[in-house]
Amino acid sequence: MNDWVQPPVKLLTDIGKFNPELADASWTLPSSCYHALQVYPLEQQRIFARTWYCQCHQSELAAAGDAYQGSVERQPVTIRRLPREDLQAFHSYCKTAVAVEVFADFVFVNLDATAAALRRQCGKFLDDIYRRCPRIDELGPERRIERVVAANWKTLIDNNHECYHCAINHRSLMKLVDALVESSPATLPD
Ligand SMILES: [Fe+2]
Repeated sequence: MNDWVQPPVKLLTDIGKFNPELADASWTLPSSCYHALQVYPLEQQRIFARTWYCQCHQSELAAAGDAYQGSVERQPVTIRRLPREDLQAFHSYCKTAVAVEVFADFVFVNLDATAAALRRQCGKFLDDIYRRCPRIDELGPERRIERVVAANWKTLIDNNHECYHCAINHRSLMKLVDALVESSPATLPD
């Protein structure tokens, strides 16, 4: 796309040092990714504008005419149940269509209406979900908790994925993970 923001060369060079295929010789994300002003518009265009985001559970749109007001990175999105059970999603202001898909009973949207289907992107993950939770279709939302955190979004994701502290702080969780690994070694990666 021609109107995409061109990132500064220095920033590209820094990011290029990160190579997920060569973890030992690679760098983590440079600190500029967390504070440089040019990064956020890049993220808006290259991540938020073309990534699938969970919005609600399908049971919240059970009847024809039901609508859910969601958002993707401050852009309001409306999802509506149509008469013949289809879902429709669009920007709430300009009514431009966005992609919508149900995955394991959760409703996802993607601002890029031409995005590759979430099921295709996730490969056999859906099969794995149903194998581990065969009754997932019987489950529904219990409550919703929303928090606004004054931090770079990547800091939250980093902290969510970090698990160096798990062996000490979450011993029961670690036992569960061990049990899963022992019970189905063939389904887990090497
Ligand atoms: Fe924790």
